[in-house]
Amino acid sequence: MKKWGPMLYDCAMAPLEKVRFRKIRATLINRATGRVLEVGSGTGVNFPLYHKVTRVDAIEPNPSMKKRAIKRLNQSKVPIHMTNGNAEILPFENNTFDTAVATLVFCTIPDPQKAIDEIQRVCRPNSTILLFEHVKMNQSLLGKTQDILTPVWKRVCDGCHLNRNTLELLKASNIEVVRVESYYKGLFLVIEGVNRKDTDSNSKNSHEQL
Ligand SMILES: C[S@@+](CC[C@H](N)C(=O)[O-])C[C@H]1O[C@@H](n2cnc3c(N)ncnc32)[C@H](O)[C@@H]1O
Repeated sequence: MKKWGPMLYDCAMAPLEKVRFRKIRATLINRATGRVLEVGSGTGVNFPLYHKVTRVDAIEPNPSMKKRAIKRLNQSKVPIHMTNGNAEILPFENNTFDTAVATLVFCTIPDPQKAIDEIQRVCRPNSTILLFEHVKMNQSLLGKTQDILTPVWKRVCDGCHLNRNTLELLKASNIEVVRVESYYKGLFLVIEGVNRKDTDSNSKNSHEQL
């Protein structure tokens, strides 16, 4: 992403944020408790929305996004620690977090399956997984249009896939999906899950295996 990318991202998102997204984000973040992992925190749009959690560890691989997030980090009411890194290799011990949050991120993560495995590993058994994502739509014509547009969209929008099946990915994992809310005819989903991980398979920290 170019240097001005993060500013452009915030500007492009501003109308959607104002009309709908801010409320969706606030409701989602309100469900977070305890120590929170935020994956792909970008320009820190969610930072001012955390109230009743003890601490947030925000992972973001893009330095210019991180730089722009600092202002929002300073406005936060809870301690937020930003770390370089990506969701596929999380630099945390097993069973560290009570909640994981990802908003508009799974469309961009190169290996979303690995990210889900890592989120499950670093989150405690029965922890809460909170996502707000755009996904491939069920309506077949719209879904096909998303498939067609994705190769170009990906190049223009910094690796964003329009046609990710994030809900299906979660359902195929050990995350129990307990709530799904649909917006804009299923283009955007709020997904709440519970980490029903098999604790034996998480006995080793992935960064120890490298
Ligand atoms: C569309 S932005 C969303 C930012 C923010 N979460 C929001 O709701 O506005 C996608 C973010 O995912 C980050 N990202 C891309 N690949 C990632 C990865 N492998 N792991 C974690 N974050 C990633 C990008 O750098 C970018 O900040």
